[in-house]
Amino acid sequence: MKDAFFTVHSGLPREAPGDAESLGWALDLARTHARARVLDAGCGPGADLALLRAQRPAARLEGLDLHAPFIDRIRAEQPEVEARVGDMLVLDGAYDLIWSAGAAYGPGVTAALAAWRDHLTPQGAVAFSDCLWRTPRPAPAARAFWDRDYPGMMDLPGHIARIEGAGYRILGARWLGAAAWEAYYGPLSDRVAALRPGADADLAQVLDATQAEIELWRTHGGDYGYYLSVVRPA
Ligand SMILES: C[S@@+](CC[C@H](N)C(=O)[O-])C[C@H]1O[C@@H](n2cnc3c(N)ncnc32)[C@H](O)[C@@H]1O
Repeated sequence: MKDAFFTVHSGLPREAPGDAESLGWALDLARTHARARVLDAGCGPGADLALLRAQRPAARLEGLDLHAPFIDRIRAEQPEVEARVGDMLVLDGAYDLIWSAGAAYGPGVTAALAAWRDHLTPQGAVAFSDCLWRTPRPAPAARAFWDRDYPGMMDLPGHIARIEGAGYRILGARWLGAAAWEAYYGPLSDRVAALRPGADADLAQVLDATQAEIELWRTHGGDYGYYLSVVRPA
C-alpha cells in the first residue's frame, strides 16, 4: 500500500496547496530581503523553492525534508538550492525566513514553532500554512476524512491561540484561495486518471481514496482550508 501511495505521489509538482501569489504576499509581509537566508521546512518536491527563487533570486535557499527522494529530486532540478534530508525540528543557525507549506502538522505546529524560535535572525519571521476548520459544523464526510488524515485539526481561534501561546505575534494571515488548491489537486487528478487503466488492487484503492479526497474538496471545500500565517517572535 505504501508503494502504491508513492506511485501516485512521486513526480508531482507539489504535495500541498500553494501558489506564487500567496507566497509573494508572505515574503512582502515578512519583509524578506533580497539576500535573505530562507529555509523551506518540509519542502517536499520543491515547488515553493522554485517560487522563492523566482521572487528572491539572490536569496540563499535551503530545503529540508525527511523524505530522501524529494531531496534527491531538488538536488537534480534545482542545484542552486542547498537541499538536505533532516528533521525540521533540528535546525542549525539563523534564518531570515522559515517557510513551511502544509508541513508543520507533521511534527506538530506547536513543536515546530517552538523549535524555530531560536533559529531566526532578529528581524526573522516564520510563514507557514496549516489546514483548519472553517465552520463549527462541517459536512460529515469532511469530518470523517480529516479526523482520519489530520486528527485534532483546529479551528481558527484555536490556531491563533497556539501561535500566541508559542510566543509569536501574527504579522498577517489569510486563507489560501482555489488557485492554490488547484496547483496541488490539478496534477494529482491527472495522475489518478493516468494510472487508472490496469491498476492492481492496492493501487486502485489508493486511486479511489485520492479521487475521493479531491471530490471532497470540490463538494465541501468551504468547510476547511489552508491558513497561511506570517509570524514573528513576540
Ligand atoms: C504535505 S507535504 C508538503 C510538502 C511541500 N511543502 C509542498 O507544499 O509541496 C509535507 C512534507 O513535510 C515533510 N515532513 C513531515 N514531517 C517532517 C519533519 N519533522 N521534518 C522535515 N520534513 C517533514 C514530509 O516528508 C512531506 O514532504
